[in-house]
Amino acid sequence: MSAIVLETHCPNLKLRHRGKVRDVYEDGDRLLIAATDRISAFDVVMPNGIPDKGKMLTSISAFWFDRMDGVVPHHLISTNADDFPQNAQPYRDQLEGRTMLVRKTNRIDVECVVRGYITGSAWSEYRKQGTVCGEKLPAGLRESEKFPTPLFTPATKADEGHDENISIDTMRELVGDDLTDELIEASVTLYERGAAFARERGILIADTKFEFGLVDGEIMLIDEILTPDSSRFWPLDEYEVGRSQRSFDKQFVRDYLNTLDWNKQPPGPELPTEVVEGTARRYREAYELLIG
Ligand SMILES: Nc1ncnc2c1ncn2[C@@H]1O[C@H](COP(=O)(O)OP(=O)(O)OP(=O)(O)O)[C@@H](O)[C@H]1O
Ligand SMILES: [Mg+2]
Repeated sequence: MSAIVLETHCPNLKLRHRGKVRDVYEDGDRLLIAATDRISAFDVVMPNGIPDKGKMLTSISAFWFDRMDGVVPHHLISTNADDFPQNAQPYRDQLEGRTMLVRKTNRIDVECVVRGYITGSAWSEYRKQGTVCGEKLPAGLRESEKFPTPLFTPATKADEGHDENISIDTMRELVGDDLTDELIEASVTLYERGAAFARERGILIADTKFEFGLVDGEIMLIDEILTPDSSRFWPLDEYEVGRSQRSFDKQFVRDYLNTLDWNKQPPGPELPTEVVEGTARRYREAYELLIG
């Protein structure tokens, strides 16, 4: 196990953005995206990190980018520190294994969410009013049931605060019809490919979120893909319709936080050792099933 990295410090590099999980540095028309061991829940970053989380996330994304070649162009150039720019070399110890060198794009500010199974907020909404993100669905679906076909349910990427679900029509108004159609097609294809592959390795991908950017007018898949941070991963052998599922993602942390009297505003509470270790174990399980 390597030391927990909560923040990277690379003073020779220009820091573009310290996100909830990743530190992003500029390198001309490229970016260096370093996944730290930070964990966020309810959009709040927790004070403690999860050992090896950043490295596992980066390996999982790199693994998928490699397997998704041909579906849609993606931003990953290399995760090999030898390929990183000269001014990043002094920071190899910090960056190696957790960092992707990528093409910089103009991000499209829509989260492309694809849902294969009914769970989470989609399940709550369906139970109350028979819809998911405003779309009417057949009656009688049970919790965690597979949708007949995957649903595309976009959300805005809010700079501040929580992302908000929007309808596909609203997405059309925001980015246009052609781009919307292209993003739906790419997202659903990526989800279906990923889900089929993960299933063979014992993981159900219940839902996930993709981000895209534009380079010279062409779409490019960016950010992380099909990780336990951007998706819900369920163990296939425990899957049962009609109840909630154990998961390999941060649901364990959310469940713990829901037992506290915490208003979900920063600062987040310190996570006890059992929660940190339980979460690390879940990420590792997912990583090993997929890549191990
Ligand atoms: N190739 C790329 N081009 C431009 N931006 C990118 C690219 N890949 C990822 N990003 C952006 O880099 C950031 C990664 O950091 P991180 O996801 O930790 O931030 P965050 O706090 O989740 O913020 P956000 O809500 O914007 O995702 C995100 O804002 C993501 O949209
Ligand atoms: Mg993000």
